Amino acid sequence: MNNQSFRDDFPVLQEERKGKPIVYFDNACQTLRPASVIAAVDGYYLHSSACVGRSNHKLAEEVTRDCDDSRSRLAKFLHVSKKEEIIFTRNTTEGINLVARSFDFKKGDVVLISDKEHNSNLIPWQMTAKRVGIEVGIIPTVSDGLLDLDEYRKMLNPRVKLVSLGMTSNLDGVTISVREIIQAAHKNGSLVLLDAAQSVPHMSIDARQLDVDFLAFSGHKMMGPSGIGVLYGKYPLLEKMEPFLVGGETVAYSTYSDCHFLPPPEKFEAGLQNYAGIIGLGAAVDYLQKVGFDAIRKQEQLLNSALGSRLAEMPRVKIFGPVDAALRGGIVNFTVEKADHHQVAIMLDQVANIAVRSGQHCVHSWFNSRGIAGSVRASLYFYNTLAEVDIFLETFQKILKVV
Ligand SMILES: Cc1ncc(COP(=O)(O)O)c(C=O)c1O
Repeated sequence: MNNQSFRDDFPVLQEERKGKPIVYFDNACQTLRPASVIAAVDGYYLHSSACVGRSNHKLAEEVTRDCDDSRSRLAKFLHVSKKEEIIFTRNTTEGINLVARSFDFKKGDVVLISDKEHNSNLIPWQMTAKRVGIEVGIIPTVSDGLLDLDEYRKMLNPRVKLVSLGMTSNLDGVTISVREIIQAAHKNGSLVLLDAAQSVPHMSIDARQLDVDFLAFSGHKMMGPSGIGVLYGKYPLLEKMEPFLVGGETVAYSTYSDCHFLPPPEKFEAGLQNYAGIIGLGAAVDYLQKVGFDAIRKQEQLLNSALGSRLAEMPRVKIFGPVDAALRGGIVNFTVEKADHHQVAIMLDQVANIAVRSGQHCVHSWFNSRGIAGSVRASLYFYNTLAEVDIFLETFQKILKVV
């Protein structure tokens, strides 16, 4: 892929620090934003900075139309026909919390998750266990990072109300076999929530064909603004759920003692919303579609195998997940024996402006259960280049000699 024209769209990639370009390999944390998304956010503040739906003036009409348009684009992006199934949230975390708080769980219900979930898909269930008395079952993963499907099938029983899984892991980049998992859950009468934070930026998702019940993701990982995300939910399920954040904009009317909630999505979007974020997210969807998921995947594979294969040959380096880079999406997450992961990350930044993430990547449970202190994670996206991979490898080889 000649990605130079795309690279030109990203202001941060035109910048330097200490006379050197920035090598941004922290895309699983958040991606960079193209000028079109920044312009869409600016456009709201510069031209139509008003509230949706409340006021009878031109600016309010403009922002109402733009936000509505964004919701429709997101529905189309997920291949669902009803835009009312798109709830705007702050991020993936809020989407999962919304289901955990609003779904009518009863004591003794079971929620299944995997053994390598991001804290955002672990803590909400731990809290629901404390609050309501649900049980949380942990499905083991096998060495290639996929779920142990035999074990999963054994764990499905009539008490399992929900299976809530990270679709693509931020730990090793592996995407689980969602179709099979959803079919087995539905056969058992269980619903499925997918944490698609690391999937939506990298692959086309057809929520209707997958028949997934809930799907959560964040704008900032798909070139959209910070502080905006989406929870998709099947409309009949959303209709039955009570909102957990309530107040302005959620009700059709109220009296001193009662209220009548609006239908979804309004009843879940309490208070004035992040209109600039919503509009910017629509622009991010446009940009993603302009680049195209085939091109994104091809470039990620090229970079991941170039980086992964060279790293795997180096002494003291151990990469998480499958050997085949094509199965790791954009992620190369590794440990360096006898070296401190934070020190490696700091040196990469200091020597060559290489941005990576170090630590336990919000999957503390996985690291702690295996006695691993932490790792260094390089996460790649379509605007990264083989030249940047070379800078990384050259710098890392120098660092290996001193850590
Ligand atoms: C797999 C996964 N799930 C959930 C999250 C939480 O996303 P957010 O912080 O945007 O809510 C992340 C963030 O890194 C993630 O990688």
